[in-house]
Amino acid sequence: MISRRQFLRYTGAGATALAAGGINTLLHFSQAEAARTLTTDFNPDLDIALKATPSKVQIFPGSPTSVWSYQGRLIKGDAGSLSHIERSYLGPIIRVRTGQKVRIRFTNEVADETIVHWHGLHVPADMDGHPRLVIPKGQTYVYEFEIRNRAGTYWYHPHPHGITGPQVYGGLAGLFLVSDAEERSTGLPDGKFDIPLVIQDRTFDNRNQLVYLSGHRMERMTGFLGERILVNGISDFNLKAARTAYRLRLLNGSNSRIYKLAWNNGSLLTVIGTDGGLLERPVERRYVMLAPGERLDLWADFSRFSTGSDLRLVSLPFDIGSLGSRRTGPGRMSSGHPLPNGSGFSILKVNVNQEGGESRTLPETLSTIGKYRLRDAVNREQPRRIDLVMRHMTWTLNGRTFRMQDVAADEKVRLNTLEAWDFINEGSGMGMMGAMDMPHPMHLHGMQFQVLQRSGVRHHGYVDDGWKDTVLLMPGERIRLLVRYSDYTGLFLYHCHNLEHEDMGMMRNYLVENPAAKA
Ligand code: C2O
Ligand code: CU
Ligand code: CU
Repeated sequence: MISRRQFLRYTGAGATALAAGGINTLLHFSQAEAARTLTTDFNPDLDIALKATPSKVQIFPGSPTSVWSYQGRLIKGDAGSLSHIERSYLGPIIRVRTGQKVRIRFTNEVADETIVHWHGLHVPADMDGHPRLVIPKGQTYVYEFEIRNRAGTYWYHPHPHGITGPQVYGGLAGLFLVSDAEERSTGLPDGKFDIPLVIQDRTFDNRNQLVYLSGHRMERMTGFLGERILVNGISDFNLKAARTAYRLRLLNGSNSRIYKLAWNNGSLLTVIGTDGGLLERPVERRYVMLAPGERLDLWADFSRFSTGSDLRLVSLPFDIGSLGSRRTGPGRMSSGHPLPNGSGFSILKVNVNQEGGESRTLPETLSTIGKYRLRDAVNREQPRRIDLVMRHMTWTLNGRTFRMQDVAADEKVRLNTLEAWDFINEGSGMGMMGAMDMPHPMHLHGMQFQVLQRSGVRHHGYVDDGWKDTVLLMPGERIRLLVRYSDYTGLFLYHCHNLEHEDMGMMRNYLVENPAAKA
Protein backbone atom coordinates (compact mmCIF):
# COMPACT_ATOMS: atom_id res chain seq x y z
CA MET A 1 0.00 0.00 0.00
CA ILE A 2 1.30 3.42 -0.91
CA SER A 3 1.28 5.98 1.89
CA ARG A 4 -0.33 9.38 1.60
CA ARG A 5 3.04 10.97 1.96
CA GLN A 6 4.23 9.20 -1.15
CA PHE A 7 0.94 10.02 -2.78
CA LEU A 8 1.52 13.73 -2.53
CA ARG A 9 5.18 13.51 -3.25
CA TYR A 10 4.49 11.76 -6.53
CA THR A 11 1.54 13.78 -7.80
CA GLY A 12 3.67 15.17 -10.59
CA ALA A 13 5.19 11.84 -11.48
CA GLY A 14 2.18 9.94 -12.79
CA ALA A 15 1.76 7.68 -9.78
CA THR A 16 -1.43 9.44 -8.72
CA ALA A 17 -3.93 7.03 -10.20
CA LEU A 18 -2.28 4.16 -8.41
CA ALA A 19 -2.12 6.06 -5.14
CA ALA A 20 -5.68 7.28 -5.33
CA GLY A 21 -6.88 3.79 -6.17
CA GLY A 22 -5.21 2.50 -3.05
CA ILE A 23 -6.83 5.15 -0.91
CA ASN A 24 -10.28 4.60 -2.38
CA THR A 25 -10.24 0.90 -1.68
CA LEU A 26 -9.23 1.61 1.85
CA LEU A 27 -12.02 4.02 2.57
CA HIS A 28 -15.00 2.23 1.02
CA PHE A 29 -16.52 5.18 -0.79
CA SER A 30 -20.25 4.97 -1.12
CA GLN A 31 -21.67 5.37 -4.59
CA ALA A 32 -21.80 9.03 -5.62
CA GLU A 33 -25.16 10.45 -6.53
CA ALA A 34 -25.40 11.58 -10.14
CA ALA A 35 -23.49 14.81 -10.68
CA ARG A 36 -25.70 17.89 -10.78
CA THR A 37 -26.20 19.59 -14.11
CA LEU A 38 -27.24 23.07 -15.11
CA THR A 39 -30.83 24.26 -14.83
CA THR A 40 -32.06 26.57 -17.57
CA ASP A 41 -34.46 28.66 -15.46
CA PHE A 42 -31.65 29.80 -13.16
CA ASN A 43 -30.39 33.16 -14.35
CA PRO A 44 -27.00 33.78 -12.71
CA ASP A 45 -25.39 37.17 -12.08
CA LEU A 46 -22.10 35.35 -11.89
CA ASP A 47 -21.32 32.24 -13.89
CA ILE A 48 -17.90 30.65 -13.57
CA ALA A 49 -16.11 27.48 -14.54
CA LEU A 50 -13.91 26.16 -11.77
CA LYS A 51 -11.67 23.14 -12.03
CA ALA A 52 -9.48 21.20 -9.66
CA THR A 53 -6.39 20.32 -11.62
CA PRO A 54 -2.77 19.22 -11.19
CA SER A 55 -0.44 22.16 -11.55
CA LYS A 56 3.04 23.43 -10.74
CA VAL A 57 3.98 26.58 -8.85
CA GLN A 58 7.31 28.24 -8.24
CA ILE A 59 7.41 28.53 -4.46
CA PHE A 60 11.19 28.30 -4.11
CA PRO A 61 14.10 28.80 -6.49
CA GLY A 62 14.89 25.60 -8.37
CA SER A 63 12.28 22.92 -9.01
CA PRO A 64 8.67 24.03 -9.13
CA THR A 65 6.32 22.38 -6.65
CA SER A 66 3.65 19.98 -7.90
CA VAL A 67 0.29 20.88 -6.43
CA TRP A 68 -3.41 20.51 -7.01
CA SER A 69 -5.09 23.86 -7.69
CA TYR A 70 -8.47 25.35 -8.31
CA GLN A 71 -8.48 27.35 -11.51
CA GLY A 72 -11.35 29.59 -12.50
CA ARG A 73 -12.67 31.14 -15.69
CA LEU A 74 -15.34 33.82 -15.85
CA ILE A 75 -18.25 32.97 -18.12
CA LYS A 76 -20.54 35.80 -17.06
CA GLY A 77 -20.30 38.57 -14.44
CA ASP A 78 -18.19 41.52 -13.29
CA ALA A 79 -14.54 41.29 -14.27
CA GLY A 80 -13.56 41.73 -10.61
CA SER A 81 -15.47 38.66 -9.44
CA LEU A 82 -12.52 36.38 -10.03
CA SER A 83 -8.99 37.26 -9.07
CA HIS A 84 -5.95 35.12 -9.14
CA ILE A 85 -3.24 35.37 -6.47
CA GLU A 86 0.07 35.56 -8.30
CA ARG A 87 2.59 32.75 -7.76
CA SER A 88 0.13 30.91 -5.53
CA TYR A 89 -1.42 27.46 -5.60
CA LEU A 90 -4.54 28.95 -4.00
CA GLY A 91 -7.70 29.08 -6.08
CA PRO A 92 -9.06 32.36 -7.45
CA ILE A 93 -10.65 34.75 -4.97
CA ILE A 94 -14.35 34.75 -5.77
CA ARG A 95 -16.09 38.06 -4.98
CA VAL A 96 -19.88 38.34 -4.82
CA ARG A 97 -22.54 40.57 -3.33
CA THR A 98 -25.38 39.51 -1.10
CA GLY A 99 -28.44 38.69 -3.17
CA GLN A 100 -26.50 37.70 -6.28
CA LYS A 101 -27.17 34.45 -8.02
CA VAL A 102 -24.11 32.36 -8.63
CA ARG A 103 -23.48 29.40 -10.91
CA ILE A 104 -20.24 27.48 -10.52
CA ARG A 105 -19.51 24.67 -12.96
CA PHE A 106 -17.03 22.59 -11.10
CA THR A 107 -14.97 20.05 -13.04
CA ASN A 108 -12.76 17.48 -11.40
CA GLU A 109 -9.48 17.00 -13.24
CA VAL A 110 -7.59 15.30 -10.43
CA ALA A 111 -7.25 11.57 -9.89
CA ASP A 112 -9.21 11.47 -6.61
CA GLU A 113 -12.90 11.81 -6.18
CA THR A 114 -13.66 15.27 -4.86
CA ILE A 115 -16.37 17.89 -4.33
CA VAL A 116 -16.28 21.58 -3.36
CA HIS A 117 -17.66 22.84 -0.07
CA TRP A 118 -18.41 26.56 0.43
CA HIS A 119 -17.30 27.01 4.01
CA GLY A 120 -19.58 29.37 5.91
CA LEU A 121 -22.14 29.85 3.15
CA HIS A 122 -25.81 29.33 3.84
CA VAL A 123 -26.82 27.18 0.86
CA PRO A 124 -29.21 24.28 0.18
CA ALA A 125 -28.02 20.79 1.14
CA ASP A 126 -27.23 19.71 -2.43
CA MET A 127 -25.07 22.86 -2.89
CA ASP A 128 -23.05 22.28 0.25
CA GLY A 129 -20.44 19.84 -1.07
CA HIS A 130 -21.32 16.97 1.25
CA PRO A 131 -18.98 13.97 0.71
CA ARG A 132 -21.87 11.89 -0.66
CA LEU A 133 -21.83 14.24 -3.67
CA VAL A 134 -18.23 13.52 -4.75
CA ILE A 135 -17.54 13.30 -8.46
CA PRO A 136 -14.80 11.26 -10.15
CA LYS A 137 -12.20 12.67 -12.50
CA GLY A 138 -13.73 14.01 -15.69
CA GLN A 139 -17.15 14.85 -14.22
CA THR A 140 -18.76 18.23 -13.62
CA TYR A 141 -21.00 19.29 -10.75
CA VAL A 142 -22.98 22.47 -11.32
CA TYR A 143 -23.68 24.62 -8.27
CA GLU A 144 -26.44 27.20 -8.47
CA PHE A 145 -27.33 29.24 -5.43
CA GLU A 146 -28.22 32.67 -4.19
CA ILE A 147 -25.91 34.48 -1.79
CA ARG A 148 -27.86 34.86 1.43
CA ASN A 149 -24.91 35.47 3.72
CA ARG A 150 -24.01 38.88 4.98
CA ALA A 151 -20.70 40.40 3.95
CA GLY A 152 -17.77 38.36 5.18
CA THR A 153 -14.72 36.26 4.48
CA TYR A 154 -15.82 32.78 3.50
CA TRP A 155 -13.80 30.12 1.70
CA TYR A 156 -14.00 26.97 -0.37
CA HIS A 157 -12.19 23.68 -0.20
CA PRO A 158 -12.68 19.98 -1.03
CA HIS A 159 -14.80 17.70 1.15
CA PRO A 160 -14.44 14.06 0.03
CA HIS A 161 -14.61 11.70 2.97
CA GLY A 162 -11.27 10.54 4.31
CA ILE A 163 -9.09 12.58 1.93
CA THR A 164 -9.99 16.21 2.64
CA GLY A 165 -6.69 16.62 4.55
CA PRO A 166 -4.39 15.60 1.68
CA GLN A 167 -6.45 17.48 -0.92
CA VAL A 168 -6.44 20.79 0.96
CA TYR A 169 -2.79 20.26 1.79
CA GLY A 170 -2.05 19.60 -1.87
CA GLY A 171 -3.29 23.12 -2.66
CA LEU A 172 -7.06 22.98 -3.06
CA ALA A 173 -8.52 26.01 -1.26
CA GLY A 174 -9.65 29.52 -2.10
CA LEU A 175 -11.39 32.56 -0.65
CA PHE A 176 -15.01 33.49 -1.26
CA LEU A 177 -15.63 37.12 -0.28
CA VAL A 178 -19.13 38.47 0.13
CA SER A 179 -19.88 42.20 0.31
CA ASP A 180 -23.13 44.00 1.06
CA ALA A 181 -24.54 47.51 1.50
CA GLU A 182 -24.08 47.55 5.27
CA GLU A 183 -20.41 46.76 4.89
CA ARG A 184 -19.90 49.37 2.18
CA SER A 185 -21.51 52.03 4.40
CA THR A 186 -18.75 51.58 7.01
CA GLY A 187 -16.16 53.06 4.66
CA LEU A 188 -13.62 50.40 5.66
CA PRO A 189 -10.45 50.21 3.56
CA ASP A 190 -11.10 48.48 0.26
CA GLY A 191 -9.40 47.75 -3.04
CA LYS A 192 -5.66 47.42 -2.51
CA PHE A 193 -6.10 48.29 1.17
CA ASP A 194 -8.22 45.19 1.75
CA ILE A 195 -5.77 42.31 1.89
CA PRO A 196 -6.65 38.63 2.21
CA LEU A 197 -4.04 36.55 4.03
CA VAL A 198 -4.38 32.77 4.00
CA ILE A 199 -2.10 31.20 6.60
CA GLN A 200 -0.97 27.60 6.05
CA ASP A 201 1.89 25.35 7.05
CA ARG A 202 3.69 23.00 4.68
CA THR A 203 6.67 20.68 4.63
CA PHE A 204 8.86 20.38 1.54
CA ASP A 205 11.46 17.79 0.63
CA ASN A 206 14.82 18.70 -0.86
CA ARG A 207 13.29 18.74 -4.34
CA ASN A 208 10.72 21.35 -3.24
CA GLN A 209 7.89 18.80 -3.23
CA LEU A 210 5.16 18.71 -0.61
CA VAL A 211 5.42 16.10 2.10
CA TYR A 212 2.28 15.04 3.94
CA LEU A 213 1.76 12.50 6.73
CA SER A 214 4.64 10.27 7.69
CA GLY A 215 2.07 7.51 7.96
CA HIS A 216 2.42 7.20 11.70
CA ARG A 217 -0.84 6.83 13.55
CA MET A 218 0.20 9.29 16.20
CA GLU A 219 0.64 12.01 13.63
CA ARG A 220 -2.84 11.41 12.30
CA MET A 221 -4.22 11.60 15.82
CA THR A 222 -2.67 14.98 16.51
CA GLY A 223 -3.04 16.33 12.98
CA PHE A 224 -0.48 17.23 10.36
CA LEU A 225 1.92 20.07 11.08
CA GLY A 226 4.07 21.61 8.37
CA GLU A 227 7.57 22.83 9.04
CA ARG A 228 7.19 26.20 7.34
CA ILE A 229 4.59 28.92 7.34
CA LEU A 230 3.18 30.10 4.02
CA VAL A 231 0.92 33.09 3.50
CA ASN A 232 -1.17 33.08 0.32
CA GLY A 233 0.99 30.17 -0.82
CA ILE A 234 4.19 32.20 -0.45
CA SER A 235 7.07 31.46 1.89
CA ASP A 236 8.58 34.35 3.94
CA PHE A 237 5.65 36.56 3.06
CA ASN A 238 6.44 40.24 3.02
CA LEU A 239 3.60 42.74 2.90
CA LYS A 240 4.68 46.04 1.43
CA ALA A 241 2.36 48.60 2.96
CA ALA A 242 1.74 52.31 2.79
CA ARG A 243 1.41 54.54 5.85
CA THR A 244 -2.35 54.20 6.08
CA ALA A 245 -5.07 51.90 7.41
CA TYR A 246 -5.64 48.42 6.03
CA ARG A 247 -8.23 45.74 6.40
CA LEU A 248 -6.44 42.41 6.77
CA ARG A 249 -8.60 39.33 6.26
CA LEU A 250 -7.00 36.31 7.84
CA LEU A 251 -7.98 32.73 7.15
CA ASN A 252 -6.38 29.81 8.93
CA GLY A 253 -6.27 27.37 6.01
CA SER A 254 -3.92 24.95 7.79
CA ASN A 255 -4.81 21.31 8.36
CA SER A 256 -4.30 21.35 12.12
CA ARG A 257 -2.06 24.20 13.22
CA ILE A 258 -3.50 26.82 15.57
CA TYR A 259 -2.10 30.35 15.60
CA LYS A 260 -1.98 32.66 18.59
CA LEU A 261 -1.82 35.87 16.62
CA ALA A 262 -0.13 39.02 17.87
CA TRP A 263 1.94 41.95 16.65
CA ASN A 264 5.58 41.57 17.57
CA ASN A 265 5.83 45.14 18.89
CA GLY A 266 3.23 44.46 21.57
CA SER A 267 0.55 46.73 20.15
CA LEU A 268 -3.01 45.46 20.35
CA LEU A 269 -4.78 43.64 17.55
CA THR A 270 -7.91 45.50 16.45
CA VAL A 271 -10.47 42.90 15.44
CA ILE A 272 -13.33 44.08 13.25
CA GLY A 273 -14.75 40.80 11.99
CA THR A 274 -14.87 37.04 12.43
CA ASP A 275 -16.18 34.06 10.42
CA GLY A 276 -19.58 35.49 9.51
CA GLY A 277 -18.53 39.09 8.86
CA LEU A 278 -18.17 42.35 10.75
CA LEU A 279 -18.60 42.61 14.50
CA GLU A 280 -20.95 45.23 15.92
CA ARG A 281 -17.96 47.23 17.03
CA PRO A 282 -14.20 46.73 17.02
CA VAL A 283 -12.58 44.85 19.89
CA GLU A 284 -8.96 44.94 20.96
CA ARG A 285 -6.88 41.99 22.09
CA ARG A 286 -3.27 41.45 23.01
CA TYR A 287 -3.53 38.21 21.04
CA VAL A 288 -6.20 36.15 19.28
CA MET A 289 -6.39 32.40 18.73
CA LEU A 290 -7.09 31.39 15.14
CA ALA A 291 -7.89 27.71 14.58
CA PRO A 292 -8.17 25.84 11.26
CA GLY A 293 -11.22 27.06 9.35
CA GLU A 294 -11.62 30.29 11.33
CA ARG A 295 -11.35 33.80 9.87
CA LEU A 296 -10.45 37.09 11.45
CA ASP A 297 -10.73 40.60 10.06
CA LEU A 298 -8.21 43.08 11.42
CA TRP A 299 -7.95 46.83 11.20
CA ALA A 300 -4.26 47.67 10.89
CA ASP A 301 -3.26 51.31 10.80
CA PHE A 302 0.34 51.69 9.64
CA SER A 303 0.22 55.49 9.59
CA ARG A 304 1.91 55.54 13.01
CA PHE A 305 4.98 53.91 11.52
CA SER A 306 7.69 55.76 9.71
CA THR A 307 8.58 54.82 6.18
CA GLY A 308 11.14 52.04 6.21
CA SER A 309 9.99 50.42 9.43
CA ASP A 310 9.11 46.76 9.85
CA LEU A 311 6.49 44.98 11.87
CA ARG A 312 5.72 41.31 12.22
CA LEU A 313 2.57 39.33 12.69
CA VAL A 314 3.63 36.44 14.89
CA SER A 315 2.21 33.37 16.56
CA LEU A 316 2.99 33.36 20.28
CA PRO A 317 3.87 30.14 22.12
CA PHE A 318 1.04 28.41 23.97
CA ASP A 319 0.21 25.17 25.75
CA ILE A 320 -1.86 22.89 23.60
CA GLY A 321 -2.80 19.94 25.83
CA SER A 322 -1.21 16.64 26.61
CA LEU A 323 -1.55 14.91 23.25
CA GLY A 324 -0.99 17.84 20.96
CA SER A 325 2.17 18.96 22.65
CA ARG A 326 3.80 15.54 22.99
CA ARG A 327 7.42 15.90 22.12
CA THR A 328 8.26 12.33 23.00
CA GLY A 329 6.69 9.05 22.02
CA PRO A 330 6.58 7.04 18.86
CA GLY A 331 7.05 8.16 15.30
CA ARG A 332 7.73 11.56 13.94
CA MET A 333 6.90 13.45 17.11
CA SER A 334 9.74 11.74 18.95
CA SER A 335 12.31 12.95 16.47
CA GLY A 336 11.22 16.45 17.49
CA HIS A 337 9.13 18.41 15.02
CA PRO A 338 10.97 21.65 14.29
CA LEU A 339 7.73 23.61 14.67
CA PRO A 340 5.35 21.88 17.10
CA ASN A 341 1.79 23.16 17.47
CA GLY A 342 1.99 25.87 20.11
CA SER A 343 5.52 27.00 19.34
CA GLY A 344 6.28 30.64 18.62
CA PHE A 345 7.28 31.93 15.17
CA SER A 346 6.85 34.74 12.69
CA ILE A 347 3.96 34.54 10.22
CA LEU A 348 4.64 37.51 8.01
CA LYS A 349 6.55 40.75 7.82
CA VAL A 350 4.96 44.11 7.13
CA ASN A 351 7.34 46.52 5.48
CA VAL A 352 6.02 50.07 5.61
CA ASN A 353 7.65 51.46 2.51
CA GLN A 354 5.46 54.27 1.17
CA GLU A 355 3.70 57.43 2.26
CA GLY A 356 0.07 56.89 3.02
CA GLY A 357 -2.14 59.40 1.31
CA GLU A 358 -5.54 59.69 2.91
CA SER A 359 -5.85 58.90 6.60
CA ARG A 360 -8.78 56.88 7.85
CA THR A 361 -10.48 56.50 11.17
CA LEU A 362 -11.73 53.26 12.59
CA PRO A 363 -15.55 53.27 12.56
CA GLU A 364 -17.07 52.99 16.06
CA THR A 365 -19.91 50.83 14.85
CA LEU A 366 -19.46 48.29 12.12
CA SER A 367 -22.70 46.35 11.83
CA THR A 368 -25.93 45.38 13.52
CA ILE A 369 -26.33 41.89 14.86
CA GLY A 370 -29.67 40.58 16.11
CA LYS A 371 -28.73 38.65 19.21
CA TYR A 372 -30.23 35.21 19.79
CA ARG A 373 -31.50 34.54 23.31
CA LEU A 374 -31.36 31.24 25.14
CA ARG A 375 -34.96 31.61 26.25
CA ASP A 376 -36.06 31.44 22.60
CA ALA A 377 -34.31 28.11 22.02
CA VAL A 378 -36.61 25.08 21.72
CA ASN A 379 -34.23 23.00 23.83
CA ARG A 380 -33.28 25.69 26.37
CA GLU A 381 -33.91 23.25 29.26
CA GLN A 382 -31.71 20.57 27.81
CA PRO A 383 -29.30 21.73 25.13
CA ARG A 384 -27.96 19.19 22.67
CA ARG A 385 -24.68 17.90 24.05
CA ILE A 386 -21.71 16.85 21.96
CA ASP A 387 -18.71 15.43 23.77
CA LEU A 388 -15.42 15.48 21.92
CA VAL A 389 -13.88 12.22 23.00
CA MET A 390 -11.40 9.59 21.93
CA ARG A 391 -12.65 6.02 21.56
CA HIS A 392 -10.50 3.13 20.42
CA MET A 393 -7.74 5.47 19.32
CA THR A 394 -10.08 7.54 17.16
CA TRP A 395 -11.51 11.01 17.78
CA THR A 396 -15.30 10.90 17.95
CA LEU A 397 -18.38 13.03 18.51
CA ASN A 398 -20.33 11.45 21.37
CA GLY A 399 -18.47 8.21 20.65
CA ARG A 400 -19.63 8.15 17.02
CA THR A 401 -17.68 8.52 13.81
CA PHE A 402 -18.80 9.52 10.33
CA ARG A 403 -20.92 7.23 8.18
CA MET A 404 -21.98 8.62 4.84
CA GLN A 405 -25.76 8.74 5.27
CA ASP A 406 -26.01 8.06 8.97
CA VAL A 407 -28.10 10.36 11.18
CA ALA A 408 -28.85 9.38 14.78
CA ALA A 409 -32.15 10.27 16.43
CA ASP A 410 -30.42 13.02 18.39
CA GLU A 411 -28.96 14.51 15.20
CA LYS A 412 -32.27 15.60 13.71
CA VAL A 413 -33.38 19.20 13.99
CA ARG A 414 -36.53 21.00 12.96
CA LEU A 415 -36.55 23.65 10.26
CA ASN A 416 -36.88 27.22 11.53
CA THR A 417 -36.10 26.45 15.14
CA LEU A 418 -33.49 28.02 17.35
CA GLU A 419 -31.41 25.47 19.24
CA ALA A 420 -28.73 25.49 21.90
CA TRP A 421 -25.76 23.15 21.30
CA ASP A 422 -23.10 22.40 23.85
CA PHE A 423 -19.68 21.28 22.67
CA ILE A 424 -17.66 19.80 25.49
CA ASN A 425 -13.92 19.20 25.35
CA GLU A 426 -13.32 18.05 28.88
CA GLY A 427 -10.99 15.18 28.05
CA SER A 428 -11.55 11.53 27.47
CA GLY A 429 -9.76 10.15 30.46
CA MET A 430 -6.65 8.08 30.10
CA GLY A 431 -5.69 6.43 26.86
CA MET A 432 -2.81 4.15 25.95
CA MET A 433 -0.44 7.05 26.01
CA GLY A 434 -1.73 8.97 28.98
CA ALA A 435 -4.37 11.67 29.11
CA MET A 436 -5.80 12.38 25.67
CA ASP A 437 -6.63 15.99 25.42
CA MET A 438 -6.32 18.18 22.40
CA PRO A 439 -7.86 21.30 20.92
CA HIS A 440 -10.74 20.77 18.49
CA PRO A 441 -12.06 23.54 16.22
CA MET A 442 -15.73 22.58 15.79
CA HIS A 443 -17.52 23.59 12.61
CA LEU A 444 -21.16 23.53 11.53
CA HIS A 445 -22.13 23.47 7.87
CA GLY A 446 -24.93 25.53 6.42
CA MET A 447 -25.46 27.98 9.28
CA GLN A 448 -23.77 30.79 11.13
CA PHE A 449 -24.20 30.60 14.89
CA GLN A 450 -23.66 32.74 17.97
CA VAL A 451 -21.50 31.73 20.91
CA LEU A 452 -23.51 32.24 24.07
CA GLN A 453 -20.94 31.19 26.62
CA ARG A 454 -17.56 29.59 27.01
CA SER A 455 -16.34 28.01 30.21
CA GLY A 456 -13.24 26.28 31.53
CA VAL A 457 -11.11 28.83 29.77
CA ARG A 458 -7.37 28.59 30.37
CA HIS A 459 -6.38 30.51 27.26
CA HIS A 460 -7.74 33.89 26.41
CA GLY A 461 -7.67 35.65 23.12
CA TYR A 462 -11.01 34.43 21.83
CA VAL A 463 -13.31 36.66 19.86
CA ASP A 464 -16.64 34.94 20.37
CA ASP A 465 -18.74 37.98 19.41
CA GLY A 466 -20.50 38.17 16.10
CA TRP A 467 -21.35 35.34 13.73
CA LYS A 468 -19.29 32.18 13.75
CA ASP A 469 -19.22 28.88 11.89
CA THR A 470 -16.09 27.43 13.47
CA VAL A 471 -15.20 27.66 17.13
CA LEU A 472 -12.05 26.52 18.91
CA LEU A 473 -12.28 24.45 22.05
CA MET A 474 -9.01 24.09 23.91
CA PRO A 475 -8.75 21.15 26.34
CA GLY A 476 -11.00 21.66 29.35
CA GLU A 477 -13.33 24.09 27.61
CA ARG A 478 -17.00 23.94 26.83
CA ILE A 479 -19.08 26.13 24.63
CA ARG A 480 -22.78 26.84 24.34
CA LEU A 481 -23.90 28.15 21.00
CA LEU A 482 -27.22 29.18 19.54
CA VAL A 483 -28.14 28.31 15.98
CA ARG A 484 -31.28 28.75 13.90
CA TYR A 485 -31.90 26.19 11.16
CA SER A 486 -33.51 28.44 8.61
CA ASP A 487 -34.41 28.04 4.94
CA TYR A 488 -32.99 24.67 4.01
CA THR A 489 -33.86 21.10 4.87
CA GLY A 490 -31.62 18.11 4.32
CA LEU A 491 -28.31 16.63 5.30
CA PHE A 492 -25.52 18.87 6.61
CA LEU A 493 -22.30 18.20 8.50
CA TYR A 494 -20.79 19.14 11.80
CA HIS A 495 -17.19 18.21 12.40
CA CYS A 496 -13.81 19.01 13.81
CA HIS A 497 -11.89 21.23 11.37
CA ASN A 498 -8.58 19.65 12.28
CA LEU A 499 -8.55 17.97 8.86
CA GLU A 500 -6.84 14.79 10.05
CA HIS A 501 -9.49 14.46 12.77
CA GLU A 502 -12.21 15.06 10.19
CA ASP A 503 -10.68 12.45 7.87
CA MET A 504 -10.50 9.87 10.65
CA GLY A 505 -14.22 10.36 11.19
CA MET A 506 -14.63 13.15 13.76
CA MET A 507 -17.58 14.27 11.71
CA ARG A 508 -21.30 13.54 11.69
CA ASN A 509 -24.39 14.44 9.71
CA TYR A 510 -27.26 16.42 11.09
CA LEU A 511 -30.58 16.44 9.32
CA VAL A 512 -32.88 19.47 9.05
CA GLU A 513 -36.47 18.31 8.71
CA ASN A 514 -39.65 20.19 8.01
CA PRO A 515 -42.45 18.38 9.87
CA ALA A 516 -45.08 20.53 8.12
CA ALA A 517 -43.95 19.30 4.72
CA LYS A 518 -44.33 15.66 5.70
CA ALA A 519 -48.13 15.49 5.74
CU1 C2O B 1 -14.37 23.98 6.02
CU2 C2O B 1 -16.82 20.82 6.44
O1 C2O B 1 -15.57 22.41 6.24
CU1 CU C 1 -17.93 24.19 6.18
CU1 CU D 1 -10.42 17.50 16.52
